[in-house]
Amino acid sequence: MAKAFSSWVADQQSRFEDVLRNLLPSADVAPQRLHAAMRYSVLDGGKRVRPLLAFAAGELAGADVARVNYAAAAVELIHAYSLVHDDMPCMDDDVLRRGKPTCHVEYDEATALLVGDALQSLAFQFLSEQSLSDDPSKQLQMVKLLAVASGSRGMAGGQAIDLASVGKQLTLPELEQMHIHKTGALIRAAILLGAHCGNGLNDAQIDKLDRFGKLIGLAFQVVDDVLDCEADTATLGKTAGKDADNDKPTYVSLLGLQDAKAMAQRLHSEALESLGEFGESARRLRELADFIVLRKF
Ligand code: IPE
Ligand code: IPE
Ligand code: MG
Ligand code: MG
Ligand code: MG
Repeated sequence: MAKAFSSWVADQQSRFEDVLRNLLPSADVAPQRLHAAMRYSVLDGGKRVRPLLAFAAGELAGADVARVNYAAAAVELIHAYSLVHDDMPCMDDDVLRRGKPTCHVEYDEATALLVGDALQSLAFQFLSEQSLSDDPSKQLQMVKLLAVASGSRGMAGGQAIDLASVGKQLTLPELEQMHIHKTGALIRAAILLGAHCGNGLNDAQIDKLDRFGKLIGLAFQVVDDVLDCEADTATLGKTAGKDADNDKPTYVSLLGLQDAKAMAQRLHSEALESLGEFGESARRLRELADFIVLRKF
C-alpha cells in the first residue's frame, strides 16, 4: 500500500534538506559571509512545494530521483532568491520570512542582493553540470524552460507587474496574468522539469501536466492572498496583512474572501481534471493539489 501523504511529504522534505545542505557552498569557504547568507536563506524552512511537485512529476515519468534532485534544487534556489528580493525594502519591505528575520535584516541589503544573484547562477549550474536527461537536446530545453520561467516573461516579469500595480485596481484578467507570472511560472516549471528527467510521458501527456501546473500555480497564489488576509503571522512565518498594508491588488481585494476561496476551489477542480488519464500514478500530484488549496500556512 502507498505511504500516507503526510509521511511521504515528511520523508521527501527531510531527504531534500540533506540534498540542499550538500549542494550549497559551505559557509567555511570564501566568501564566507555570502555563503552563510545563501545557506540561511535556503535551508531550514519553507514547505518545499515546488520540489515536492517535481518529485511527484518525476515519479509519474519514471525519472531517476538522483536527477530530479538537481532539477528540484534548481527551482527551489530560484524560488528562495525570489523571496530574498521580494522581502527587500525596495519591494515588499518585510522583516520576517520562514519564521526568521529576512535576509537583508539578518545580513544587509547588499548581501541580500548578492544572495539572489548567486542563488540564481547556482540554479543554472545545477541544471547544466549534471546529466539530467539521456537526450542532451532535451536537457538544453530544460535549461531554457527554467530561464524563461524565471525571467521577464516569468517570475521577474510578474514581480514587475506586482510593483507597478500598487495602489491600483486591476481587472480580473490583469490580476490573473500577474499571478500566473510571479508565482505560477516557477510552479509550472517545477512540474515540467521533474517530468523531463524521465522518459515515460508522451507530448500529449506533458501538455496535460503543463495545464495542471498552470492551474495549480495560479491557485497557489490565490490561496497565498487569502492566507495573507486570514492567517496570523506566527502560523505563516511571514508578516500577515502585508498585502493590504502595501496596497496590493489581490484576489481578496478584488473579489472578497469568499469568492477568492471559491476561485481557488474552481482552479483545483480544473487542475485535477487535467490529470484524469493518469490514474494511480498521479496520486502524489493530486494530493499536492489538495494540499495547495487546503493549506493553512
Ligand atoms: C511564498 O511561497 C511566495 C509565493 C510565491 C506565493 P511559499 O508559500 O511556497 O513559501 P515557502 O517556500 O513555503 O516559504
Ligand atoms: C511573491 O508574492 C511572489 C514571489 C516571491 C515571486 P508575495 O509577495 O505575495 O509573496 P509573500 O506573501 O511575500 O510570500
Ligand atoms: Mg511580493
Ligand atoms: Mg511579499
Ligand atoms: Mg503573499
